[in-house]
Amino acid sequence: GKSGYDHYMLKEIHEQPRALRKCLRGRVDELGGTVELDELDEPPRPTAVQFVACGTSYHAALYGAQLFQDAGIPAQAFLASEYVTSPPPTGDALVVGVTQSGETADTLSALREAKGRGARTLALTNVVGSTVSRECDHVIYIRAGPEIGVAASKTFASQLAALNLFALATANGGDRDGLGALRDLPSEVQAVIDDSTAADVAAEYLDADGYFFIGRGLNYPVALEGALKLKEITYRHAEGFAAGELKHGPLALVTENTPVIAIATGDGELARKTVGNVKEVEARNAPVIAVTDGQSDIERYADHVLPIPETHPRTAAVLANVQLQLFAYHTAARLGRSIDKPRNLAKSVTVE
Ligand code: F6R
Repeated sequence: GKSGYDHYMLKEIHEQPRALRKCLRGRVDELGGTVELDELDEPPRPTAVQFVACGTSYHAALYGAQLFQDAGIPAQAFLASEYVTSPPPTGDALVVGVTQSGETADTLSALREAKGRGARTLALTNVVGSTVSRECDHVIYIRAGPEIGVAASKTFASQLAALNLFALATANGGDRDGLGALRDLPSEVQAVIDDSTAADVAAEYLDADGYFFIGRGLNYPVALEGALKLKEITYRHAEGFAAGELKHGPLALVTENTPVIAIATGDGELARKTVGNVKEVEARNAPVIAVTDGQSDIERYADHVLPIPETHPRTAAVLANVQLQLFAYHTAARLGRSIDKPRNLAKSVTVE
């Protein structure tokens, strides 16, 4: 049952700390500085990685590709339905299908294409015994537990955590900061849920003409995911952009009735530039909702702040996403939408 929550989605958002603990349990050796994934006899050591996925899982794939890039392994994410047009994998490349259900037709078909091209394949999935787990050479389970809400919530968080484990295992350990950040992630997610004011902020923008989400780096896929979640469960128009792209066209849509939800974490170049983009929308009188760890001066230009604790950039993206999940959920709840079963959508899409 829903254990007292109004919707399965809210229950599943709240289950994230537990789901993340399950994902990490027994897999991180902090003393040794290594990650152990039992499903893999031996972590594949690819020369390059291609991710294929759809929807929310594609956003996880974009995030995963950045982790591998950062570890010095060339990586790209492709929409599974477009994979046939991509350049073939070269050398000892690994093609990774990210799919929580393990049954998405587009993703299965891209993985079969990859096999046909001679690549090794790996499935990152939630469902033991799913088609993807049977068809791929390797599998990593995200261990999120069953998800009833059609809109993915806890499975996305667990995909991001599992991608961290996978990248750390592939890079052969030694990243103590990354491991420490993962250890702290479940309790940080709990703290964000406990303190979130997203419900109050959401209530102020129920009549918005549209919602824009912006972020850079690891926060770019989070911006895409924030917009997708809002579209799915509120039926309102929302778009996610790389923060730098706003001025290349979408800025024409920005008005005082289009809130801009900007994610800026850390105190580096990416956050500084995102703050620059936020100044542009503020000058057009758009309401700004900042999701931030307080390390940049974005708050000065924001009408509302949805805070997250200061942490590693990789886990900051997961925490920022929790605020966006709650923003979407509470907007949809106020609008009286069918949150667990949005119109026209199914939990797993088995046609191409
Ligand atoms: C959005 C959502 C979908 C799925 C997509 C792929 O909330 O759930 O976008 O992410 O249909 O599904 P899986 O991960 O099962 O391959």
